[in-house]
Amino acid sequence: MQNFEFVSPTQFVFGRGVEEQVGQKLAAAGAKSCLLHFGGQSAVKSGLIDRIRASLDAAGIAYVELGGVRPNPEISLVRQGVRLCKERGLDWVLAVGGGSVIDSAKAIANGACIDEDVWTLFETKRVDHEVLPIAVVLTIPAAGSEASKNTVISNDELGRKTGYANNAHRPRLAFMNPELTYTLPEYQTAAGCTDMFAHLLERFFDNCEPVPVTDNLNLSLMKTVRTFAPVVLEEPENYEARANIMWAGMLCHQGLAGVGRVEDWATHGLEHELSALKPEITHGAGLAVLFPAWMEYVHELNPGRFAQYGYEVFGVAPSGDVLLDAQAAIDQTRMFFASLGMPTTLEELNVEEADIESMIPTLKANKGEPFGSFMRLTMDDARQIYRLAL
Ligand code: NZQ
Ligand code: ZN
Repeated sequence: MQNFEFVSPTQFVFGRGVEEQVGQKLAAAGAKSCLLHFGGQSAVKSGLIDRIRASLDAAGIAYVELGGVRPNPEISLVRQGVRLCKERGLDWVLAVGGGSVIDSAKAIANGACIDEDVWTLFETKRVDHEVLPIAVVLTIPAAGSEASKNTVISNDELGRKTGYANNAHRPRLAFMNPELTYTLPEYQTAAGCTDMFAHLLERFFDNCEPVPVTDNLNLSLMKTVRTFAPVVLEEPENYEARANIMWAGMLCHQGLAGVGRVEDWATHGLEHELSALKPEITHGAGLAVLFPAWMEYVHELNPGRFAQYGYEVFGVAPSGDVLLDAQAAIDQTRMFFASLGMPTTLEELNVEEADIESMIPTLKANKGEPFGSFMRLTMDDARQIYRLAL
């Protein structure tokens, strides 16, 4: 088991109607004012933002609104948020939405406490500054940003999408009401389930020895997502299924499913280039295409690990040939994502062979070379994985 530090300061408030407690809980945590940050339209249309306003008003918390976060959030809106926090002296950031809104909120909470431009943090990765406290009302289980140490932001001018990790911006409060996810379009529900499953794969497949306490937790979460993802698609208002998926999405990425392991994260790096190139690509959909391709490319290095995953998560019957079993596990993974309605080729995402070369320089800038852990990948390996996914 690798040495590790694990910090998880988030207070979770989970269940029906919990968003009504936002004002009261923020006030109890010492908030006087906040930036109320949200996305394109779903939270306004559903009446959620109105309920949050009412809750903040009742608790006497002043707020300034900044909506319009797009999926694959962009740095220019982050900069606007930073300006608002500084000019108005706001002391918390309240994100109402999914990974994109929460990531934008995290970036704002950092930027509000430094003198230089917030993008410098995504370049230098420095973590030696204060960060405004963050609260979250989650509306889509997927990215796990409601408790994670990461924020991922696009910079369209530079053609980059890159992550920045800081334990100080893990949310202090996360309100999670599974009923808020009933309105999700099927595609977003499916992409969210794919993303959370991918967060487990990134942690399970690396180059270190088994860590049973971590691996068993990870496998159990994989089985949970595999079981309930089809149920939430079939029955969008099944509270128990939505609740299991919502809590699983958090557990998949807050860190516990990987502690003591090295973790891989090559496929996320490959995917972030897709959604940087074409911001209309949903992160989970990109992962659904790339993960099986990555698995095909690397599995022969340790087929036993893939076979174990296949036995445990998909009930693959041992054939006596571990390589065959590993292949069966990869096939099952591809079929699982496809059964949720996710794409299986880059072509379906309108990415062509000619696009591959344009992603390589930014991939190298973001991930370095070599990158990943299960197999140390060069840029040539990356090209081949993208080609396998075409
Ligand atoms: O903008 P609105 O109108 O709200 O619509 C959103 C958006 O179009 C919609 N939506 C959200 N909740 C809804 C809803 N529609 C109806 N009903 C609801 N209850 O769903 C769409 C997708 O939202 P988004 O926030 O983009 O989804 P997700 O949570 O999947 O976040 C994706 C972003 O997170 C990053 C991804 O790269 C991507 O940029 N990630 C962040 C991570 C982290 N911070 O730890 C880790 C992940 O690996 C990931 O990279
Ligand atoms: Zn992800």
